[in-house]
Amino acid sequence: MEQRVPSARSSRSSAGPAILRLNEPCMGGTRAVQARAQSRHEGSPHPEGSLASHLRLCPRLRPKGCIFAVRAEPPPAGKRRSRAMSLSRRDLITASALLLAGPAGALRAADQGAAAGGKPIVLCWNENPYGPSPAARLAVSRAIADGCRYPDDDEVDALEGALAAHEKIDADSIVTGTGSGELLRALGLLYGGDGAEIICAAPTYEELPKYAALRGAALKPVPVDAQLRHDLPAMAGAVTERTRAIYLCNPNNPTGTALPAAAVRAFVAALPEHVVTIVDEAYMDFTVGEDLGSVADLVQGKRRVVVLRTFSKIHGMAGLRFGYAITRPDLAETLEDARMTTPNIYAVRAARASLDDKAFLADTRRRILASRTRITTELGRLGLKFAEPQGNFVFFDTGMPLERFTSLMQARNILVGRLFPPFATWCRITIGTEPEVASFLTALRALKAA
Ligand SMILES: Cc1ncc(COP(=O)(O)O)c(C=O)c1O
Repeated sequence: MEQRVPSARSSRSSAGPAILRLNEPCMGGTRAVQARAQSRHEGSPHPEGSLASHLRLCPRLRPKGCIFAVRAEPPPAGKRRSRAMSLSRRDLITASALLLAGPAGALRAADQGAAAGGKPIVLCWNENPYGPSPAARLAVSRAIADGCRYPDDDEVDALEGALAAHEKIDADSIVTGTGSGELLRALGLLYGGDGAEIICAAPTYEELPKYAALRGAALKPVPVDAQLRHDLPAMAGAVTERTRAIYLCNPNNPTGTALPAAAVRAFVAALPEHVVTIVDEAYMDFTVGEDLGSVADLVQGKRRVVVLRTFSKIHGMAGLRFGYAITRPDLAETLEDARMTTPNIYAVRAARASLDDKAFLADTRRRILASRTRITTELGRLGLKFAEPQGNFVFFDTGMPLERFTSLMQARNILVGRLFPPFATWCRITIGTEPEVASFLTALRALKAA
C-alpha cells in the first residue's frame, strides 16, 4: 500500500525529486524479490509483495538501472540541473538513508493516505505497518546490487548464529524459512502422512493443518474454551496412538488469546513420546503478563518440540518473508530437508539488521500495545465482547453478522478480517498505525450509533 510507507518524495522539497541512477544493473535482484513474493498467508495472493513498496523504489524499474525517487541537493548556481546522475555505492548508502523513516514515516504515510481518502485502510492481515525497521531498510537498499547473488553461506551462518544467541540455543537447532509459513507447511507435509492424526485448536491458524490434510492426515480440531483459549485438557484427551503432531498457536490466531508458558510445559511433559508438539509463537513479542512467554528452551530436552517464529510481525517484514524454527538438531535436519526454498538475500540481510534494531522493536511494541488498549477500552465502552488480546490484533463480537459488518466497514474504506467459523458475528481487526486505529474506532462508533 502506498500509504504504509513513508514517501521520500512527499516529504522533500517542492523542487521535486531528482532521479538518481545506479551504476549497477539491479533488475535481476528486483525480479528475484518479486518472484519470491510469497502468496499471502491465508491463501490469497499478496497484492503488492514487492520490495519496491517497502523501499519506496520508483515503480519505473528499467532494464539497465534502478531508479530511486529521492531529493538531491540543489545544483550549484549557474549549472544546468541534471535529472539523471550516476550513483556510487557510497552514494547509494547516503541515498538509502533518505529512505529510512520507521514508525514516524508510517504514521505520516497513514495520515497522507487518510487525507487522500482513496486507499483502503488494511486491517485484515495482521501486518505490522511500522516496519521494516530503519536498519532493515538500509540493509535491503545496500543489498540491491547483490540481488544477482545467492546469499553467502557465511552470512546465512552468521544470521543463524545471531538467532541462536538471541534464543540462547545452539545454532544447529535453528532452521530458517521463507516466512514461518513455509516451515508450517513443511511440518504439515512431514507429519501429515501415513494415516496420521493432527490435533489443533478450532479456530486456529490453518497453514499446518491444511498441509497435513493434503498428505491425508485426519485433522482433530478441538474447540477453544469459553475464554477462547486452547482447551489443553480436551486436546490431551484427543491424543491416540495415531497422533503424530499437536499444533499450539500461542498466542492464537484468530482469537488472540495466550496460554501461560507453565501450562504449555506441563502439557508437553504429559504427552506420549511419539507426539511432536509444534508451538507457533508468531505473536509472542506482543504478549503482556509474567506467566506468558516462549517455551523455546523445551527443544533442549528429550521431548520432540518445534517452536516457530516469524519476522512478519514485531519486525514488520511480512513482505520480505523470513521466519525460523527452533528444534532439536535431529528434527532440525529433517525439517531443513523438507523446505521448498531458502530465504532470499534481502530477507537474510534485513533479518540480521532488524534483530539488532532494539529501538525500533521497542517502539513498535509500545505503539501496538497502546493502540490495543485503546481498542479494547472502546470495545468495552460500546458494550462489545472481545477475547483477551495478546497479539497485534483484536478478536471481538461485532453484534451483527460479520458479512454485514465487513461491508459496512468497507463502505468506510476499512478492510477487516474474514469469518472464522463458528464465530459468525466476530471480527479480527489488525492493529494498524495510530491514525488507522483512530479511523477504525470512529467508524465503529458510527456503526454502533446508527
Ligand atoms: C499464527 C501465525 N503463524 C505463522 C504465520 C505466517 O507468518 P509468515 O509471514 O512468517 O509466513 C502467521 C501469519 O499471519 C500467523 O498468523
